[in-house]
Amino acid sequence: MSSKLNLRLLAAVMLAAALPLCVKGAPLEVTPTDLPQGEASGEEEEDRRISDPPRDSNIIEIWERVLKSTESHQQEFDEEFQGNVKYDLLDKDKPRSFPAKCPNCTLSKEACLQSLAHGMLVYTVLLKHVDREYHNSSIVAAVKAGIPQLITQIKAKMRNADSVAAPTSSEEQQLLKELDRPDLFYRKMMAHRILRSIHIFLVDGKRSYQKWMSKKKPESFYISKPKHQEYTKTVA
Ligand SMILES: *[C@@H]1O[C@H](CO)[C@@H](O)[C@H](O)[C@H]1NC(C)=O
Ligand SMILES: *[C@@H]1O[C@H](CO)[C@@H](O)[C@H](O)[C@H]1NC(C)=O
Repeated sequence: MSSKLNLRLLAAVMLAAALPLCVKGAPLEVTPTDLPQGEASGEEEEDRRISDPPRDSNIIEIWERVLKSTESHQQEFDEEFQGNVKYDLLDKDKPRSFPAKCPNCTLSKEACLQSLAHGMLVYTVLLKHVDREYHNSSIVAAVKAGIPQLITQIKAKMRNADSVAAPTSSEEQQLLKELDRPDLFYRKMMAHRILRSIHIFLVDGKRSYQKWMSKKKPESFYISKPKHQEYTKTVA
């Protein structure tokens, strides 16, 4: 009985000892946005963030590098299956968890960026399945190298970058569980479905991204506002 108590005590002590570690790690994540005293300099910070290196040409170059790699997927697929499995099959029976096209990209620039970053984070998880089935895929290597860079640059352009979070570990498990079946052919086809789907997502996403980025700054929208005020004044 006393040994049970000791165990419980030990667990409590260990938990208490582990806690400071967790807390110590937390401020690291919080610091970039946790600048309450510097509220006034916030705008300067924002301006600098927008004009600094993350340039569009850069991000487009990364995007194109990844796409060049995913474009070779059909050829690899046809070589592997020797024409016995049709490539078009990959567009069928796609799990709902695969973000196909950028879901919110027509709504607004912010919604588009959020949706892009979110989709890329989901694919980061799904790629683990591809990795499991095809250890040395050069496509996976290229996508894994490029996607974190794309996410960083997209988040730098978002007003509320914190709103996009990576899937939690239980969400991650859930995503991967539905792909992990005993049937080898099923697993391989799923791996190929992911590569096919990520290619479509990136093609579509790049187009949407460029469309929003080429739009005039939102300030121009407000030019019409004073006119409207004048009008209401004269009417009144
Ligand atoms: C798309 O927009 C809806 C409504 O604003 C939101 O609930 C959803 O989370 C968004 N999806 C993504 C992937 O950003
Ligand atoms: C795959 O990678 C592993 C380790 O990096 C290597 O040992 C193996 O030879 C590679 N296989 C192929 C088919 O390239």
